[in-house]
Amino acid sequence: MSQLSDALLRFHQENPRNLPWRKDPSPYHVWVSEIMLQQTRVETVKGYFERFMACLPDVAALARSNEDLCLKLWEGLGYYSRVRNLRKAAMEIVKKHRGEIPCEVSDLKRLPGIGEYTAAAIASIAFHAKEVAVDGNLVRIYARLFARPLDPGSPKDRRLVALGFAEQMDIDPAIFNETLMDIGQLQCLPNGKPLCSTCPLRGFCIAHQREEEQKYPLAKKKTKRKTEDRTILILTKDDRVYLEKRPEKGLLSSLYQPMNLLGRWKEEGIRDYLEKKGYVLGSFENLGGAKHIFSHVEWHMTGWKIEVLASPKDALFVTQYEKETEYSVPSAFNAFLG
Ligand code: ADE
Repeated sequence: MSQLSDALLRFHQENPRNLPWRKDPSPYHVWVSEIMLQQTRVETVKGYFERFMACLPDVAALARSNEDLCLKLWEGLGYYSRVRNLRKAAMEIVKKHRGEIPCEVSDLKRLPGIGEYTAAAIASIAFHAKEVAVDGNLVRIYARLFARPLDPGSPKDRRLVALGFAEQMDIDPAIFNETLMDIGQLQCLPNGKPLCSTCPLRGFCIAHQREEEQKYPLAKKKTKRKTEDRTILILTKDDRVYLEKRPEKGLLSSLYQPMNLLGRWKEEGIRDYLEKKGYVLGSFENLGGAKHIFSHVEWHMTGWKIEVLASPKDALFVTQYEKETEYSVPSAFNAFLG
């Protein structure tokens, strides 16, 4: 057995993790968990995963569900196209694969939202196929093990890592991949602070021997985000709050939001704007500022709580209970909506 496989197997046996998707690693459980775990921490995903499974326990239930329910189950996780694709893929699995999640990487990659990494994770963890699921964590581990300046964002470097690890994979691929993921999260931490003294791979990690862990992998290029000023209007009428559905395309598509205007608006301008739309207004309260960072844009928001005495007929006002149970509202607005 390769030194690496041996070390991974031992670490796996000595450090079991109690993760809900590992109790019964069915293809559906593995798939949904892997999609949730993209860009989201394990601790956050645990509760979301349990709630999702309680409500939509299998592919058929997901395929039959409506988009608003899926968005509600995803509320607060961000990157909502993940759950829209999950639902579309479930419908395709029912149509084209008789409701069975395919086991081949090539078939998996044809489904919406499933790329190289997720296909390999499902194939290896649920079907025990000899595939390496390479994400940024695995590139970092490999770059340090072999002291190579690899770029986690480069498809070529990811393929190199997949080939390199595959050569040393002679234990169950599910255990091999999951244990590397665990080491990436628990030991071989990014940003120059790996916990090498307790790492099972330290005996054959070249970067560690050279005390150069921080040099690897290559630093990410900083993405330039644009900033947008937004004015958030929390319209309240009796005990209800105004919500509107966002457009079907683009950022936070199809989610519900309070009324919000591009730019920084003052009380007078807001009053004019709303009165022209047919609102009759009472008191105004300035709720102060808040910032929300998305991957490509940063919102600099100022909020107003506005008492509505009368509103146009088609305006939607919902109770706190309805907001909590029926409408998916992005966490960007939490500072103002509570
Ligand atoms: N991160 C991505 N996939 C994971 C998994 N299956 N277990 C733990 N962390 C993960």
